[in-house]
Amino acid sequence: MSVGPLPEKFRKLDLPGRQEQIRRTYNPQAEEWQAICTDPRLDDLSDIMVEAAIGSLPVPLGLAAGFLIDGEQFDIPMATEEPSVIAAASFAARILRRGGGLSAWADESVMTAQLFLEGVPVGGENRLRREQERIGTLVDGTLPGMKSRGGGYRDLELNRLPESDILVVGLKIDVRDAMGANALNTAAENLKPELERLCGGGTVMCILSNAARDRRAGARFALPVSKLSALGPGGMAGAEVARRIVLASRIAAEDEQRAVTHNKGIMNGISAVVLATMNDTRAVEAAAHAWAARSGRYQPLSRYTLRDGTGGRAEERTLEGEIELPLAVGSLGGAVGFHPASRLALRLLGFPDARRLSRIIAAVGLAQNFAAVLALVTGGIQRGHMKLHAARLAYQAGARGEEVRRVAEAVAKGGRYSRGEAAAILEQPRKEPRGEPRGENDR
Ligand code: MEV
Repeated sequence: MSVGPLPEKFRKLDLPGRQEQIRRTYNPQAEEWQAICTDPRLDDLSDIMVEAAIGSLPVPLGLAAGFLIDGEQFDIPMATEEPSVIAAASFAARILRRGGGLSAWADESVMTAQLFLEGVPVGGENRLRREQERIGTLVDGTLPGMKSRGGGYRDLELNRLPESDILVVGLKIDVRDAMGANALNTAAENLKPELERLCGGGTVMCILSNAARDRRAGARFALPVSKLSALGPGGMAGAEVARRIVLASRIAAEDEQRAVTHNKGIMNGISAVVLATMNDTRAVEAAAHAWAARSGRYQPLSRYTLRDGTGGRAEERTLEGEIELPLAVGSLGGAVGFHPASRLALRLLGFPDARRLSRIIAAVGLAQNFAAVLALVTGGIQRGHMKLHAARLAYQAGARGEEVRRVAEAVAKGGRYSRGEAAAILEQPRKEPRGEPRGENDR
């Protein structure tokens, strides 16, 4: 079947017109169409949020309950298409609670707007430095709201690029609870004429830097190794589990290919919360990977070490995990707090300010990584993944509601993972339960 293309005027049509055009051109199945047009009010929202909207994408949203961060309980909203992510985060939260949970920190929300100027004569930098105070006042003048909330101009950073001879002017600005892109870009564009006049160059472009190196957050935990006992199949001793986790951390530091996967596991958690709150996933991810490569070698974002206990006995040791990365997330502005789904996510987190949200996200990233590495060095991740895969097969075979669990468990038990097998099990007459618990969640 030939599909598309859509007519030139597509983006100029109103929303019903666009939807009608899609139906005529691509003939989507009813199930596909219903998946993106769940509620006309959401369609309207999409229509004002992006150009050429046709609906909205319902990415699964779940809760990783029971996180203990700085002594407070959190249920974490996570949006992800990957089956095992939320299960793993909840599992990690449960284990880490045994050691008092996680502690977290976050920098002030300082971001940098960059102006790239060409043709700046020698001495241009000095003229800018001499006028720093006035530049600060001008920046604050363009962001009165930010200033009144305690944010605004913080510093001037100058850097001459060696090959192009471009002068990079960095305006460091505290954006408080915003992600900051709009504020920074506004400030940079407004300052352009004055900076050009002062240094005698011409602006090639100006935009915020997503590197967010001054806006980092981190988390850590300390868990007695005895709390790790018997977590893997075969009941491995806690000290051995901890030794392997530390070794896995060293492997990631030595092997760049492993470091990428290690960090992908961290971003499974981080991006899921960033997306649930409708923050900018691409900004956070770009910054995280740049941070990981800051030494010139791509490194893991987290690290695990073993600390000796007072008695020197292996079981009295503590496994310590820590993470640090840039986290430019806002608690208001853009889609954050505007889209009702984002508001719900923020509500579940107790409407945190931006720094508190960063702390929560850093803690989730570390917990997610801990769960992945723990699984990898004990039984492997495939067992858990296959259980979730079995649920998908059951669904594809037509199972719904309670039947999904029954069919999935039977598929996993039989070890034959195919849609045909799931369909065959679905057709078998259902045995009546005898009152015994059916699975982990029923206990
Ligand atoms: C899968 O999405 C993430 C893991 O590969 C992370 C890791 O290997 O550390 C399990």
